[in-house]
Amino acid sequence: MRKQLTIGLFGFGCVGTGLYEVLNQTSLLQARIKHIVVKDATKKRQIDASYFAYDAEVILGDSEVNVVVELINDSDAAYVIVKRALESGKHVVSANKKLIALHLEELIALAKANNVSFLYEAAVGGSIPIIRNLEEYYNNDSLSSINGIVNGTTNYILTKTGEGQSFDDALKTAQELGFAELDPTSDVDGFDAKYKLVLLLKHAFGYTAKTEQVWNYGIRQLKTWDATYAREKGYKIKLLAFGTRVDDQVVGFVAPHLIPANHFAYNVENEFNAVVVEALFSDRQLFLGKGAGSYPTASAVLSDISALQFDYAYEYRKTNAQENLTLTTDFRLRVYVSGTTKEQLERVKFEEIQEIYHGSTHHFHIGWANFSDLQQLDWNNESDLFLAVLPEGLQLASTVYAEEGQLEAHAN
Ligand code: HSE
Repeated sequence: MRKQLTIGLFGFGCVGTGLYEVLNQTSLLQARIKHIVVKDATKKRQIDASYFAYDAEVILGDSEVNVVVELINDSDAAYVIVKRALESGKHVVSANKKLIALHLEELIALAKANNVSFLYEAAVGGSIPIIRNLEEYYNNDSLSSINGIVNGTTNYILTKTGEGQSFDDALKTAQELGFAELDPTSDVDGFDAKYKLVLLLKHAFGYTAKTEQVWNYGIRQLKTWDATYAREKGYKIKLLAFGTRVDDQVVGFVAPHLIPANHFAYNVENEFNAVVVEALFSDRQLFLGKGAGSYPTASAVLSDISALQFDYAYEYRKTNAQENLTLTTDFRLRVYVSGTTKEQLERVKFEEIQEIYHGSTHHFHIGWANFSDLQQLDWNNESDLFLAVLPEGLQLASTVYAEEGQLEAHAN
């Protein structure tokens, strides 16, 4: 049976205002916003002042509010709010990927103990319904990989810089359009994509990764010569969140990739996101949609609120059926690495260098490097270096050994 939902909303920024509007435009949902708690009492708002309050208790202490929608930027403050809301027996809908990636297990346990739902479709991929699909549609299909573009801001920047705009101008527009985080370093250095990947790994494979285990390298160090190299070779540079599973090993990282024209991500531009799921039975499927912005993100929040009318909760069946999965670093990547000087470039350890370029402005190496060797450098802060993964550029050590073993067996 549908139930009446009374919403307490935290935050009235880009997504919060979008939610207010999409809720007003949908007649199918028995849901109303009762209070909106915001930080800044001096800010002029477009809607009736009677909605607004400045004390979290107005929502948390109101027994009529049965749904808390948390859409604030500050993940520490959001943690306190979400915990208190779950403990008070209220359902929670959140879009806060950092909060969720950092505290997922605790929040799942709290929701369960208090017999309420904790939903977060809007935390990954904006309008793309990926979490619910992983939970429901692929519930019985064994997934082997999940990867894609999951950050709208960086995809917007890469699109615009590809068209000749400067990085700073493109970032500024992404901020104005409401795509970027309050601290855009989170977007630009791949943290935002990493938080989303942690949630994808959880729902795709049932693997609970700690955020500090997952390597994230963003696009801040991209230089004009890297963009030129990509263009001349027919590639585009895209920031991919990469998750794959082979037997009981999981690979998960975020890094720029050189994308050929036949790759699903090649024509995914601006703030669009795209996620490809590979599964044993359903094979390869692509999800495409707007990954950031007011209405697209609000539409995912709306969908979670709607699901609460029917008491929907994630089951985490893949986690519950957990085999002993481990996140491995025992693989190698085929990478392009450029450096402003030869000396800087030579600090990067390669297992096998296949191509070398020395020019007057920069230098690059292409070849295979062990992931664990690459991890020795703090790439987001190496201003003289840039790295991008090449197509088909991942080999798990276990696969290489298995293939070598097969070859030997064959030779014998
Ligand atoms: N800053 C995020 C992005 C917002 O650009 O993708 C949506 O999660």
